[in-house]
Parts: sequence; C-alpha cells; structure tokens
Amino acid sequence: MNNKQIYIAPSILSADLLYLGKEIKSVEKAADIIHVDVMDGHFVPNLTFGPDLVKQVRYFTKQKIDVHLMLSQPDKFIAKFLEAGTDYLSFHLEAHVDHEKWLKKIRENDCKAGLVLNPDTPAKKIFSYLPLLDYVLVMTVYPGYGGQNYIEACTKKISELHKFQSSHDFLIEVDGGINFRTGKEAKAAGANILVAGSFIFKNEREYANTIKGLRDV
Ligand code: DX5
Ligand code: ZN
Repeated sequence: MNNKQIYIAPSILSADLLYLGKEIKSVEKAADIIHVDVMDGHFVPNLTFGPDLVKQVRYFTKQKIDVHLMLSQPDKFIAKFLEAGTDYLSFHLEAHVDHEKWLKKIRENDCKAGLVLNPDTPAKKIFSYLPLLDYVLVMTVYPGYGGQNYIEACTKKISELHKFQSSHDFLIEVDGGINFRTGKEAKAAGANILVAGSFIFKNEREYANTIKGLRDV
C-alpha cells in the first residue's frame, strides 16, 4: 500500500456473523484489506472477537487482515494476534503500555504496525511514535459500536496528520461513520484507508458496488 491511493477496509463487525465466510467472500475481491475489531468490554463497552477468529479468517481468505485492538491491555494479546496471521495490527495510544516496545515487536514479525487515536486525542500526541509506525488509525467515532455518525471535528485531525506525511512515511486510516459523503471528506483531508462497516454490510446495495463507490469518492 502507498499514500497515493485510497484503500477500502470492510469491517466485519457489521457483517452477518452467522454467515461470516459468505460475507467475507462477498467483499474479498473488491476490498483491499479486511478490518477486524477486537473489543475487551473494558477499554470499550462491548465484546467481540479473539485471535482464534483471526486464525480461521486467515485460513479462509488470501485477503490481508487488519486487526484493530480496542483493549486496555493489548500487550497481553499482541503475540497471539501475530501468530494468528495478522497483516496490519494496531492498538490505542490511550492504552497504558510500552508503545515503543510493542510497535517494534509487531514490525519484527513482518506485520505493519499502527497506533489508534480516539476522537479526543490530539494529533500531536502521535508525533514521537511516527518513525515506528506504518499507519495511524484515526477514530472518527467513539470506539465500541458500528453504525455511529462520523464526528466532523475529526476531519481537522486527519489534515494535521496528513502534514506529517511530508516528513514521515506512514498511512492514515480512518474508522467510524464512513459513507460516500464522509469518505470523500476524509479522503480530501488526506485519508489513505477507509474502514466501513455498516455502510457496506447493512446496505441494500451490492457490497462490491459500495466498495467501488467508496474508492471513487
Ligand atoms: C468501532 C469500530 C469500527 C466499526 C465501524 O469501534 O472500530 O471499525 O466497525 O463501523 P461503521 O463503519 O458502521 O461506523
Ligand atoms: Zn475498527
């Protein structure tokens, strides 16, 4: 992936989980990467998937897997998600861990390393970590649930991060409330990867058409 193109990451949080294989098959060709939201019921008020699910998805598809850890203690699980076959692995800047140590560990395992910023965390807090990062994930909703509205104030943060791209080599991923309008806004501000859950999976349009539409915003 490079920062000259836009990439689309369907979030399986909004997929029909009883038919997850079928849902993944329906997006894998059109999409660039599959986004998996991991929640611990503590860092965020919801519970979702673990490393075993990622391992099964790994066997099932050749598509790249992007794991977004919403965990208070990501350090306890990073090794397990690496073993499971994650290609892109991010955890939150707001988690109380040794960020440098774990970002290095992720890269040592030939996985792309990312840090996530919650809506209220300013862009400048990421600056010292940029040399260790392959991407920054900007939350444009408060993490925990799919189907929320994009927080407009976050667009400014994407622009601020985009300025850092002139001096550092990293991608900007945007997550939460993405549709054609907000996707266009995020892209104009400098986003490289658009995560979309409900807009893809809870829409009457064919998934592949939604993904194509997002790519063309
Ligand atoms: C929210 C998750 C998102 C979620 C996005 O905490 O990080 O990845 O799936 O869902 P939508 O696109 O519906 O806002
Ligand atoms: Zn996510």
